[in-house]
Amino acid sequence: MSTFNSIPAAERIIVALDCDVDRALEIAQSLKGKASWLKVGMTLYYDQGPSIVKTFKDMGFKVFLDLKFFDIPHQVKGAAASACMSGADMITMHALGGSDMMKAAVEGIEELHLESNPITLAVTVLTSMDQDDLSEIGVSRQVVDQVQALALLAQSSGVSGVVASPQEAPLLREKLGPDAYIVTPGVRPFGSSKGDQSRVTTPEQAFKNGASHIVIGRPITEQDNPAEAFEAIAKGL
Ligand code: C5P
Repeated sequence: MSTFNSIPAAERIIVALDCDVDRALEIAQSLKGKASWLKVGMTLYYDQGPSIVKTFKDMGFKVFLDLKFFDIPHQVKGAAASACMSGADMITMHALGGSDMMKAAVEGIEELHLESNPITLAVTVLTSMDQDDLSEIGVSRQVVDQVQALALLAQSSGVSGVVASPQEAPLLREKLGPDAYIVTPGVRPFGSSKGDQSRVTTPEQAFKNGASHIVIGRPITEQDNPAEAFEAIAKGL
């Protein structure tokens, strides 16, 4: 059970806009009043900078700024603060950066003394990676063990939650408790292409598995009518 179940599902779908700015603005416009959250990743951010976060905030969206920080603690502390100053409501870092790095990010945000602290998430194992990919980089643990170990490290470092595969969500919900944010990409409605994602489930299953929020990109953004695709997904939940 998670404390997020009382929030309507449509408000817990985060639309990932990994496309050029014209298309992103077009999609955002069509989702106004329908979706609550947009995700700005590296594709859009490195093109547009902080102004794109402000643009989406001014349109009434909450913004998940997914830049996946991974650097020395001093740099990540500054990066987290800068990201939140630009208006981000949710940010990410790699748990592989270790507890000192994650604590520095949290500290950087707390020192801003904002009205409410933005949500911090740690990426455990990218949802595009499987066991062979972990072996390739010298990680001998099973994917699920690596995910669990990194998630617990993130929680003990003061991070609000994790980004994880929906398949690992039940275990993480059990280990992290009802209040932890568990944000799951790798979500595919029936019939849509997996793309480069490895460990996928349907939106419905992801929420059943304990996700607080789900991230959906291409199954919405690559449709001729993204708003219709969003509404079809939300209606089925
Ligand atoms: O298009 P798709 O639905 O696969 O988009 C998933 C989004 O979630 C992308 O923006 C990707 O960067 C992000 N993401 C992910 N796996 C993670 C963390 C973030 O796919 N572990």
